[in-house]
Amino acid sequence: MMEKKYVAEPFRIKAVEPLKMLTRAEREEKIQAAKYNLFNLAGEDCYIDLLTDSGTNAMSQDQWAGIMRGDEAYAGSSSYYKLMDAGKDIFGYGFIQPVHQGRAAEKVLLPLFLSEGKFAISNMFFDTTRAHVILAGARPIDCVVEEAKDPKVRAKFKGNMDVRKLEETINEKGIENVGLVVMTITNNSAGGQPVSMENLRAVSEICKKYDLPMCIDAARFAENAHFIKRDEDGYQDKEIKEIIREMFSYGDMFTMSAKKDAILNIGGLLGIKDGDSPLVLDVKANCISYEGFFTYGGLAGRDLEAMAIGLYEGIEENYLEYRIGQMEYLAARLDEAGIAYQSPVGGHGVFIDAADMFPDIPYYEFPAQTLCIELYKEAGIRTCDIGSYMLGNDPDTNEQLKADFEFSRLAIPRRVYTQAHLDIMADALIAIKERASDVKKGYRITWEPPILRHFQAHLEPIE
Ligand code: F0G
Repeated sequence: MMEKKYVAEPFRIKAVEPLKMLTRAEREEKIQAAKYNLFNLAGEDCYIDLLTDSGTNAMSQDQWAGIMRGDEAYAGSSSYYKLMDAGKDIFGYGFIQPVHQGRAAEKVLLPLFLSEGKFAISNMFFDTTRAHVILAGARPIDCVVEEAKDPKVRAKFKGNMDVRKLEETINEKGIENVGLVVMTITNNSAGGQPVSMENLRAVSEICKKYDLPMCIDAARFAENAHFIKRDEDGYQDKEIKEIIREMFSYGDMFTMSAKKDAILNIGGLLGIKDGDSPLVLDVKANCISYEGFFTYGGLAGRDLEAMAIGLYEGIEENYLEYRIGQMEYLAARLDEAGIAYQSPVGGHGVFIDAADMFPDIPYYEFPAQTLCIELYKEAGIRTCDIGSYMLGNDPDTNEQLKADFEFSRLAIPRRVYTQAHLDIMADALIAIKERASDVKKGYRITWEPPILRHFQAHLEPIE
């Protein structure tokens, strides 16, 4: 395997945050007290926190300066107008609505299209989006391409929608019963895998053919654009911004957690391509009820200002090369050690194939959650399960669902960790792999809430 050279940071460090390192015995105590749910750990008890890349990013000096300039007017703040200009410029949409985070955009938008008896079809829903489809009374259906389901198949654009399956599903459920088609870019649950421009175009054609609205779940739009530029024919000489404009031209609307690619700690957006659409009034009305007046959408003026700046920093080519370079570096170290992950590596993290690491643990004993717990005990690294534990139970039968993958996700915060931290991650995984055959049993749930259970459930080891 070729050694991957680390792409040096296109920045230097001005403010630092000290880390605490517990002993192994202390970590074992902490994880037991947390009922083996990593969301129950205190952040300061995690040496390297890879629970999520969402809101855990390091803002730039310009963003922090923007925080001071934020205009806190309740209505029509200058920071709002700055954000509108940035949003319209980057995405080319007529209406942009700030919200406090991605799921707020989902809560505002999805009930306008979905209700009892309806279906929403996606390449793959992320957990909160899936939950909001269900909360609106509808049912989510994933139609990701088959190659996404085999972590070892190194295909390009494994985040794509299977367009044949999409069309079959529309006809099987009845066009009138399909409320919305959602394209998640990048496809988080499949491993931060990108969606190709060709696929976005093909899905948009099917939506037009059946007169169905198409929504882009755009949390990691900039990383997706980087992959299109790197890997899709015809895009190597295009600017990232041009690529983003074309990607969004295929959707009718988008929801976005800006806590990812806008390199923020909080924020979200909702966009509607046709600024004169009657949908705009419905979105504003829901936003006023749930989020706040439509010119602040549940955020402080300072947050709007930081978002307007971060949207541009997140699409800089040097930054994206360094960012994706971190994933490639870590993945190359795992290749050397023969550790399986969703390959080729995606945009915001490395998704370890826990079913491969622990072949004796069945899906209902949560192999990925087991690996997450092992990583915490081994090196104080906090990760999360993207597998059957996260997927949860069937909303109709209450039976544990079997996920297509059992991933332990090492989500890498933006501009936060260095090459040495990446080496600690690789070394910890290698140490666990060496003793993996001793881990034969997983965990059972002793308590769970009815929806989004993985955030709060209690677990215990199976003896
Ligand atoms: N859509 C996608 C694809 C996401 O990855 C997320 C969040 C959301 C929507 C919801 O956004 O958190 O701002 O409300 N993903 C985070 C994660 C939480 O860890 O992957 P939010």
